[in-house]
Amino acid sequence: MNNGLNHPLSTSKQPAPIGIFDSGVGGLTVLREIYRQLPNESVLYFGDTARLPYGARSPEEILYFVRQILTWMADRGVKMVMMACNTSSALALDQIQGDFPFPVLGLIRPGAQAAALRGKRIGVIATQATVASRAYTCAIQEIDSTCQVWEVGCPKFVPIVEQNRLRDSSTKVTAATYLQPLMAAEIDTLVYGCTHYPHLKSVLQAILPNAMQYIDPAISMVAAGAQELDALGLRSSLPAQATEFCVSGSAIEFANLAVRWLGHRPAVNQIYLPELAVRPKL
Ligand code: DGL
Repeated sequence: MNNGLNHPLSTSKQPAPIGIFDSGVGGLTVLREIYRQLPNESVLYFGDTARLPYGARSPEEILYFVRQILTWMADRGVKMVMMACNTSSALALDQIQGDFPFPVLGLIRPGAQAAALRGKRIGVIATQATVASRAYTCAIQEIDSTCQVWEVGCPKFVPIVEQNRLRDSSTKVTAATYLQPLMAAEIDTLVYGCTHYPHLKSVLQAILPNAMQYIDPAISMVAAGAQELDALGLRSSLPAQATEFCVSGSAIEFANLAVRWLGHRPAVNQIYLPELAVRPKL
């Protein structure tokens, strides 16, 4: 019986999976988009839960983690990787381009394009590492130099999501504090610059004005991925296999948390990533 534990995606008759990765359950907001836009694609999901949050990591560490994950995914025979993590997209995508035998897509450019199309006064909420990189500001202003961008780091949001504290009253207070400078700037558009944050959608939307436009970069990244699969003749026409979930931390904790968004309790494997020769300065 196929219980999802025996690398079902790499059997020879099945089309290769798309690999997606995040530090934790943030990637589920991207997975949801893949299910919606690419229902025939099988997915290999990796959550680097032993090392989250990525937002507090240095650029060197993030680049090392991304290389490790992509090396493992290459070994697993993925046909494409969609980075389901803005921090990795901001700090590592340019550096690794061309190093792996499959296309690797990130969230920043598609998110910036969607934001620049819709808004003029754009707020970006993201991890501290993403904000420090100024990746969204640069990408948005490269597309439309008349757009104004305000980026706010929200370091408490990832622990809130990973510890399932969405409904705590303190979460509302935290969100209101983070959003305050964006409301003062009278933004018309908010970018979810971290894949964990759409999980906080109802909390954020209850605070912000009704007319606010919301950009989830996953929607545009997955659409770009679909186009690239077509261009490369890699789109699957067979029904998708069950998503294979792998994590670096506790499989049970990930399954307990993910059930809320997946609607079922997934089978999850704990895996150990290969060490690479080059280590970052920690
Ligand atoms: N969800 C990821 C992102 O989009 C990483 C969050 C974190 O681990 O800090 O940036």
